Parts: sequence; C-alpha cells; structure tokens
Amino acid sequence: MSTIQQQAAESDQEQEEAGQVAESNQEHKAGGSEQLAESDKKQEAGCSDRFCSNYLETLFPLNKFNGIGSIYPYSTGSMKALFVTDPNMVKDLAMYRPAKDEPSYLGKPRYLQEEGMVYLMVGSANEMLASWENITDKQGGSAEVVVDESLRNFAADVISKACFGSSYSELNEIFNNIRQLQIALAEQTMIFGVPGSRYLPTNNNIEIWSLEASIRRLILDMANKRREHNAATPEDEKHLLLVDSILKGAEQAGSLISSSTTPEYDFIVDNCKNIFFAGHETTATTAAWCLMLLASHPEWQSRARAEVQEVCQGKPPDVDKLKKLSTVTSVIQETLRLYPPTPFVTREALADLKLGDRDIPRGTNIWVPIALAHRNSAVWVGDPDMFDPGRFVGGKIAAACKQPHMNIPFGMGHRTCPGQSLAMFELRVVLALLLHKFEFALSRKYVHAPAFRISVEPGEGVPLILKKLDN
Ligand code: HEM
Repeated sequence: MSTIQQQAAESDQEQEEAGQVAESNQEHKAGGSEQLAESDKKQEAGCSDRFCSNYLETLFPLNKFNGIGSIYPYSTGSMKALFVTDPNMVKDLAMYRPAKDEPSYLGKPRYLQEEGMVYLMVGSANEMLASWENITDKQGGSAEVVVDESLRNFAADVISKACFGSSYSELNEIFNNIRQLQIALAEQTMIFGVPGSRYLPTNNNIEIWSLEASIRRLILDMANKRREHNAATPEDEKHLLLVDSILKGAEQAGSLISSSTTPEYDFIVDNCKNIFFAGHETTATTAAWCLMLLASHPEWQSRARAEVQEVCQGKPPDVDKLKKLSTVTSVIQETLRLYPPTPFVTREALADLKLGDRDIPRGTNIWVPIALAHRNSAVWVGDPDMFDPGRFVGGKIAAACKQPHMNIPFGMGHRTCPGQSLAMFELRVVLALLLHKFEFALSRKYVHAPAFRISVEPGEGVPLILKKLDN
C-alpha cells in the first residue's frame, strides 16, 4: 500500500472513530458494500475491476430485457420505441443522413479549439486548484476533498466564458436552477413513465414547471444584455460567441418583439438551456469519474503524472502540449467508455424509413444505450469491464474495438456532440494541472453508487485524499 493510500485508510478510520461519517452515508455503504463484495469476488477471479463492473443492470430496468435480443420494440401508451444494441443497426443509424430540408440549427463551433480557449480553461482550473491547495495547506499538506461540486463550478465557469461571455458567478443562478431541474427530472421515470403523467399537477411537476419558468426568464435576461452589449460594440471589436450565433439564428427566423412567447424566443431558450446543461454537467461528471478511476488505479495515475511532467516541464499546458498527452487522453477515453455521462443516443423517425433491412415507422423513438455498446464483449478486445486505458494508447480505437462505431461517448452521425473538442481539451487541462499539483487516493468513505440524473454521475460524490506535491 502506498503512503497516500495508507493515509486514505487512516483518515477514514479517524473520522469514523470521531463519529463524523453521516448516517445516510452509512446506509448507502451497506448497499454499496454488497456491490463491492460482489466486484471483489469477480476481481479475485481475475475477471473484473473493483469500480468498473457493469452497473447498468441496477441503473436501467431496460437492461433486464437484454435476453430478448439486440433490437426490440416496445411502447408506453402513445410512444413507440425501439431499443437498439445491435452493432450493424448502430452503424446504419450513424450513417443515416437527414433529408435535404431537415434543419441543422447548430454547427460545430471551430473557435473552440483556439489557444485562447485553453488559456481560459487553465485560468478557471487554477482557481479551483488554488482552493484545494488552501485546504491541504491548512491541514499540513494533505486533506480530504469531495471534488464533484468544485468540478461542476469549474466546468460551468468555462462554458460561461467560452459560450456566453460571462463568468460562472454572473450566471450561477441559471446553473443552480438547471441543477435543481436535473434532480427534479431524475425523479421521473423517463423511459417507462405513465403516459400523460407529466401534465398532472403533482408536487414534482409543479417544481419542474416553476424551475423551467425561472430558467426561461433568466436566459432571456442574459440574452437581452448580450444583445445590448453587441449593439453598443463596434463591428471590428466584436468577439462572437456561441450565444451570438443563437441570437442571430433567432433574429433571422423572425423579429424579436416584446412578447417573449414566440417561437424565436423558444429557440433562444431551448438552445441556451441545451448548452448550459450539455456543456458543463457532462464534462464535470467525466472529470469526477476520471479522478475516481485514477485514484483507484495508482499505477495509471503515476504513468499519467510522469507524462505530464515530461511534456509540460512544470509550465502551464497549451494546445500543443495538450495534444502530446497521449496517456492522459487514453485515460479520458477509457473513462468515457466505462462511464459515458450521456446514457443514450436517441433519434425519432420523422417519416417512415428503412434502416438496413428494417422498416421503421414514423414516430418511433430509437434508443441506443451508449454504456451497453461500450461493454459489448463481442466487439471490444479484452475484458470490457476492466479499466485499461492501454487499449486506447496511440489513439487507435480500431485496435481496441473491432467495430469502432460502437465507441460513441459523444454520439454519432450528423448530430455528434458539437462540444467534443472543447470537452476533451477541458478534461486534459484539468487532469494535467491536478496531476502536477497533487497525488491523490480514494477516501474509504467513497461509495460506488452510479446514479442516473439525466447524466450518469457518482451518486454519493467522489471524496479524495489530496496530497500536495513538492514541485
Ligand atoms: C465529456 C463531455 C461531453 C460528452 C460525453 C457529451 C456527449 C454528448 C452526446 C452523447 C450527445 C448526443 C449526440 C447524438 O445524439 O448523436 C451530445 C449532444 C450535444 N452536446 Fe455534448 N457532450 C459533452 C460535452 C459537451 C460540451 C462541452 C458542449 C458545449 C460546448 C456540448 C454540447 C452539446 C450539444 C449542444 C448537443 C446537442 C447536439 C444536437 O442535438 O445536434 N457537449 N453530447
């Protein structure tokens, strides 16, 4: 056991002796320890990994239908759905192109790859790390930190600056409301919900409606301020952001009049909400899973740190250096394979169509469960339940997966995530800076309880024992 792992065990013991472990945590530990005992058994048998065993059966009831086949239809009242894990059909879906007149409302923002964006990310990450340094300094160089909240604020700060031209502190009311909405929505059964139940005035629905109204008001206020700012800024000084493309799109579609209930305003609210949520929750959750996996696999943590030290030489990372971090990138890819934050790629057939040799009626919702595709032992080389970043080293997905289109953390086809490049840079920045500053181990208070809250996140948070390194 390494020194920092010993410290993790000791700190846990001390806190338990002092009665500091919350009761709710203890209750979860009971459930979690059963899961861990099971994964320990598997690990002893050499067939699985302590924190990587397949959590899907407990998380998604749909998984129970696995025995039925890799393509199966079901229906919940008025909604027709098709659940797809068959690799050939996933490929057909990825290759499918929209009809000529189907709208494509968001392109990929190319400016996201610029040097300035990385500089901005380094600034936001340094603020987070300074607060952790402060905590460890106060406790003699080593302390326990639950990292999730700070990672969420960091990712929110990056999105605020990169896409909306503001800081997290200016937009934090929107982020807080979106987080509350996410938790309220997670209480509903998204897949097997009773048809029409979301229109009933239950407490949960009333909370959702009130949060949606508040988010709409806050986003339109923010959009109005941005329009005023743009109107007052000379053309040659303008630095156009994603929010400006959304505003322009809405203006082109119709005149923005004082009543804020027109489709143009809906367009602004829906797209901004999409970016606010999709742009920070996914990245923050991935960063939390990455740290959990690196903390529980110290050998990969050391390899990634050695690479960061060799490439960055103690200097802040820039675009060129980040591109050279191949081990760090493999760790992120492997994390996204085991814990893709977005659980499904979904499509709705807008007309009767044919995928491969299968007829898909208009109105069918097609669901591809990403994590199942990522654990399909028929297509992945080696044990897909093991954390093994080595399978991605050299960036060759084809060597890791016999059917590379089954590696889909960012979705597929013409609707692939537009924030992929931003997210990958952001994750590399945060890992590079953190690995340089701290050595870390998983606190024994960690409870392995993946939870589905629109994204799949560590349900009980990730407590780490951080030890400041002498650099
Ligand atoms: C690790 C981080 C991220 C992951 C794993 C992720 C994953 C995904 C996935 C699976 C989809 C659905 C794609 C499909 O249907 O084929 C998606 C869509 C989307 N993502 Fe991301 N995403 C991440 C970060 C981001 C960031 C940073 C942004 C914003 C800058 C973003 C913005 C979006 C948007 C706007 C969509 C909807 C695209 C559309 O419907 O056409 N995402 N993302």
